[in-house]
Amino acid sequence: MRSHYCGEINESLIEQTVTVCGWVQRRRDHGGVIFIDLRDREGMVQVVYDPDKPEVFATAEKVRNEFVLQVTGRVRHRPEGTQNASLPTGMVEILGLELNIVNTSETPPFILDDDAVSEELRLRYRYLDLRRPEMLQRLRLRSQVTTAMRHYLDAQGFLDIETPMLTRATPEGARDYLVPSRTHPGSFFALPQSPQIFKQLLMVAGMDKYYQIVRCFRDEDLRADRQPEFTQLDIEMSFIDEEAIMSQMEAMVRHIFAHVLEEALHDPFPRMTYKEAMLRYGSDKPDLRIPLELVDLKDVMAEVDFKVFSGPATDPEGRVTALRLPKGCELSRKEIDDYTKFVGIYGARGLAYIKVNDKARGLEGLQSPILKFLPDNVVTAILERTAAEDGDLIFFGADKARVVNEALGALRVKLGHDRGLVERGWRPLWVVDFPMFEWDEASKRWVSLHHPFTSPKEEHLALLESDPGNCESRAYDLVLNGTEVGGGSMRIFRQPVQEQVFKHLGIADEEARDKFGFLLDALKFGCPPHGGIAFGLDRLVMLMSGAASIRDVMAFPKTQTASCLLTQAPSPVSERQLKELNIRIRKPQVES
Ligand code: AMO
Ligand code: AMP
Repeated sequence: MRSHYCGEINESLIEQTVTVCGWVQRRRDHGGVIFIDLRDREGMVQVVYDPDKPEVFATAEKVRNEFVLQVTGRVRHRPEGTQNASLPTGMVEILGLELNIVNTSETPPFILDDDAVSEELRLRYRYLDLRRPEMLQRLRLRSQVTTAMRHYLDAQGFLDIETPMLTRATPEGARDYLVPSRTHPGSFFALPQSPQIFKQLLMVAGMDKYYQIVRCFRDEDLRADRQPEFTQLDIEMSFIDEEAIMSQMEAMVRHIFAHVLEEALHDPFPRMTYKEAMLRYGSDKPDLRIPLELVDLKDVMAEVDFKVFSGPATDPEGRVTALRLPKGCELSRKEIDDYTKFVGIYGARGLAYIKVNDKARGLEGLQSPILKFLPDNVVTAILERTAAEDGDLIFFGADKARVVNEALGALRVKLGHDRGLVERGWRPLWVVDFPMFEWDEASKRWVSLHHPFTSPKEEHLALLESDPGNCESRAYDLVLNGTEVGGGSMRIFRQPVQEQVFKHLGIADEEARDKFGFLLDALKFGCPPHGGIAFGLDRLVMLMSGAASIRDVMAFPKTQTASCLLTQAPSPVSERQLKELNIRIRKPQVES
């Protein structure tokens, strides 16, 4: 139906007759001449109809926004003064000779290039929203990323192997999406939270190097970087160790950035232990573009006459730390109050601070609600350790380490953005030496920090029994500009170790048999040492495209409440379907 895409029309085609198809972005009548901006996937071109051909002109007069047109015409230079150098087609226009209205359109519910349209409306009419060039551009980038992944992995000898969607639960820490079985009344499939177990079984099967670009399902609280249904680049390899995996995977990430964005990422990626990340940034996914760090003060605060600080300083699980904000004296009372409210979200009970107005004047030069509680030598230590300069402000966090890390870790990121301190560029980071377990207060038991198939460090095996809290795993996360884009580990490949880890997680023998018996069995039949990683494709593309939300890089995302506004899913089903599935709907429990 066409000779060219709209976006391809340029000066090389002057005087040629072309046919293009596309959607009407805009129609303008200018004193007897009609201009139509015609848009397709590759761009936009201006078409001009003049009244010399009355029949064609009459058709052009009927054209409305978003009509689908087939236009034949002659390419010519735009008249002097009407060129648009910012548009690839901006030096030329098509003088329309023929016009075929292929299809009409109702008036769209929103103007496509209006930035103020609500996301709800955009999601309901997603097919219109996706006509916007910026949305198209993101999906194009996404396609380029998966193509680059496939090229790289194919060249490295990886096999693309599919794993089931209707399966059993895989423990990745979220709730499962369940699918009732008609043929087995009362039984359910779970949609995979990840292909974790299957990819390990593929290693037992000898596939050696596996990858899959695969949908995963997790029923969890949603955020700007989380969707209930998302895509992983999932990878597993045999007869390797973590060094080999990390170096291959970062080479792949460099390849993707080089090919898609023409960006050269650091070689090699820096590494940081989990402990150091928590200590310096209060987070296991530090954004290294923000030049602010936490400074520990636990040792100097033990003796002070201020319970808020001395309490956590003498509590083994406590933490007292400072965060210096350069030029922070500029903050107003109101701004400090707002930051105090902000850390409150993370459970912090306050946000003490010292404004360093003029160090030369000693205590006189400082301004703070807590100075009266702190002896001089402690104040000196604080100023020295934080390397505070005149004009800086020092924030303090004192509480259980978990609260301080979450609160000041988040404050660090917020200050970085609010104060324009975020450096430009890409800062990848491997975080390594994670603990195997973390203590869950709610259920009073140890839970896996990654998943229960993650191998403990060989030299920490004994700690599984004696000191599980200090047992480290062979896991690694890839963090990019403060977002966890990938995570993986070396796996347990010896059956007794796997049983032992299940036991520690409070998964009794019988339960382990029932849930993971097939895996425990497989480990008995010659399982090679193996490990892998999974990247969050959506998150990676979100970062690469500069999108603010993961929803902006998915064609048909779900809302924050995990529904699809376009199809109105999830939805009730007919009584007949329920009966077939042997399901009766209970009245929803009324929340108190
Ligand atoms: P993990 O649970 O860390 O590991 O997931 C891997 C990566 O997937 C992305 N991700 C998500 N993206 C969008 N929405 C979500 N709800 C979501 N949850 C996770 C993140 C994360 O780094 N089987 C292991 C991998 C392995 O050990 O090989 C796993 O799934 O970017
Ligand atoms: P108060 O004595 O409770 O009025 O607290 C004095 C100062 O310490 C105020 O600036 C509070 O915001 C701050 N503060 C209170 N609790 C904490 C805490 N857990 N961590 C950091 N600062 C705190």
